[in-house]
Amino acid sequence: MAADWHAHARDLARRLTGQGLRDPAWIEVFAHAPRHEFAPRATTLDYDGRVIDAVAWDRAELLRRSYADEVMVTRFETVSTAGDDVRIATSSASQPAIVAIMLQLLAVDDGHRILEIGTGPGYDACLLCMRVGDHHVTSMDIQSAVIAEAGENLARCGQHPHLVAGDGALGCPHRAPFDRIIATCALPAIPAAWPGQLAPGGRIVAPMTFGGALAVLDRDDRDEAAATGGFASDSGYFMTMRHLGQAKSAPAAPTAGTAHRTRMDPVELTDPAFRLWLELAVPGLAVLPSQTCDGRLVAVRFTRQDDTTLVECDSGRDPVVTEYGRPLWRDVETQLAAWHRTGRPGRDRFGYTVRPDRQWIWLDDPAGDVQWEFPPRAYLPVTEAP
Ligand SMILES: C[S@@+](CC[C@H](N)C(=O)[O-])C[C@H]1O[C@@H](n2cnc3c(N)ncnc32)[C@H](O)[C@@H]1O
Repeated sequence: MAADWHAHARDLARRLTGQGLRDPAWIEVFAHAPRHEFAPRATTLDYDGRVIDAVAWDRAELLRRSYADEVMVTRFETVSTAGDDVRIATSSASQPAIVAIMLQLLAVDDGHRILEIGTGPGYDACLLCMRVGDHHVTSMDIQSAVIAEAGENLARCGQHPHLVAGDGALGCPHRAPFDRIIATCALPAIPAAWPGQLAPGGRIVAPMTFGGALAVLDRDDRDEAAATGGFASDSGYFMTMRHLGQAKSAPAAPTAGTAHRTRMDPVELTDPAFRLWLELAVPGLAVLPSQTCDGRLVAVRFTRQDDTTLVECDSGRDPVVTEYGRPLWRDVETQLAAWHRTGRPGRDRFGYTVRPDRQWIWLDDPAGDVQWEFPPRAYLPVTEAP
């Protein structure tokens, strides 16, 4: 029984290769990494990140689920909304396909020193350790209980990276410099501390809270506290970075809505490049498409704080737009028109520059006409005792 997982891991590596994993070193690592060791709890999620199913798996089910291309929730919190208790995921083992995409974007070489932000159960950290050696890996998580559990999971696999319980927004100055920094929680902006913790030639790969964008930034050779780059063509959706003392909020309870029809094609609203544009242009807005199993779009939901606008596809008829709370539809229409006027730019035309005093996303040229500014974020220097 001890070795019954090997065939599953090899099969996962084969499937990831079929989906575009090309780097032979990473294929080898995936084929030998025991993902089931990072799945002590068994749960699945609905579209809002609510935990909907917590069942005990037997060994066969554990292996089947662990090596499927699925997120596995490993920790959740219960929050109250309108008198209801809702369980919200606060840590998970990410979907292997997105893990593979991000590791490949990281362009890791032998001997690289790596900082991971968002240890979770530790599967990613295990892959990194297997690739560069555990003494080269530092991994941070804001939840000290998550770090403790990850340490146990990793030790069972013979890996002992440097684990830190604390706010990854601060980076890990006493272990810097790093050749690579990878985040596995979504960021509203790149923390100002990170570029200065990169070694020459260093790279950051991080999922953003807008547009499912995966930022890939390289240290600026002329300014060691700056980094610049752009976004990968693939998308990735992660739980948002939190800070100490900040509780995860529950989805808002539904209110009555007002409805009208639109002539707009809802498929266009889900174009990854438009989603990036829209979520940059309207800060805080999130776009959530819903599809059937065979990939047919049935609805697109736009949310901003407690407000929701739902666009439902109505076969053979114009889609129905229902606005709950403050209306968001006008912003969507305005930005779709602006995106068209600008030539429907794809993700490859967006760039991202991070400096200690300023960070901004730009189209085609860092000094060009189309820019989105981010206020520098003040992260409090707080760490939890390991
Ligand atoms: C999707 S999970 C990480 C997945 C993991 N890397 C894996 O092996 O699949 C995201 C993690 O980010 C952590 N996190 C959230 N905010 C953080 C912060 N400010 N600093 C460090 N970790 C954070 C959460 O506690 C959670 O465990």
